[in-house]
Amino acid sequence: MIEASSRHPHDEPIAVRRMDFTFDESTPTCWFDDNPYLTAIMTALAVSFPPGERYFIRSVRHFLDQVDDPALREAVRAFVGQEANHTKEHLAFNRFLDSRGLPATPMEEWVTRRVERIQEVSGPAGNLARTAALEHFTAILAEALLAHPEITEKMSPEVARLWVWHAIEEVEHRSVAFDVYEEAVGDEALRLRVMAFVTVIFIAMNVARAAILLRATGRVFEPRAALKALNVLWGKPGLFRKVIPQYLRYYRRGFHPSEHDNRELVRRAKARWLGGPKAAAA
Ligand SMILES: [Fe+2]
Ligand SMILES: [Fe+2]
Repeated sequence: MIEASSRHPHDEPIAVRRMDFTFDESTPTCWFDDNPYLTAIMTALAVSFPPGERYFIRSVRHFLDQVDDPALREAVRAFVGQEANHTKEHLAFNRFLDSRGLPATPMEEWVTRRVERIQEVSGPAGNLARTAALEHFTAILAEALLAHPEITEKMSPEVARLWVWHAIEEVEHRSVAFDVYEEAVGDEALRLRVMAFVTVIFIAMNVARAAILLRATGRVFEPRAALKALNVLWGKPGLFRKVIPQYLRYYRRGFHPSEHDNRELVRRAKARWLGGPKAAAA
């Protein structure tokens, strides 16, 4: 198994696990509790993962030569391995979405073009700052998902396994892009500015994609399902509500992604979801 040991006391080791998810006729199109809104919101995120994670890999790799700490170099390699596997599995998920008549391919292509344009105009430091910001988003959303197994249980089982595996690994490598940024760039003002900018774009893009996906499913007006989705995201348990304090920590001077100890949560999730035969380590 490729594994980088933890560099911070509150981080789990970064383990690269090769998975092979299958989404077929048994997977419902509305895979999240048969709720079109929850499904559209999570699917909007999912379609952007392959181009987004390739961008993260390129942004971090660019600075590998400037990283002297051998442990951090090792962590970067494990980070790249994990993100490459996420891309592979999410491409499979996106092709499943295509097969159900959802516009995953055009959305993916749109994100690819946009990301390439951003990469060109931002410069390496900006790209790494953007990666660190988006990695904070994925890590805190991942943690919220792991903290509420009652939510993942409402997903179709294979899709739940995809999300939980991805969430575990996002939490495992939450410090990597940030540490490379601190070592190779270290511009605090840029880090904060980029996070503020990225937040607006990230939310706007996901809302727009979710609306398009919802329309494509033809299940636009279902008041009971809408109330339920609102409750899951903003009420109880309130997945989005709960990430706000964690999101805001990023703006604190001296912030580090690993300052918050969630090892117990990750270990419980690993024991429950990654113990099966399909979780063979690479
Ligand atoms: Fe990922
Ligand atoms: Fe990541």
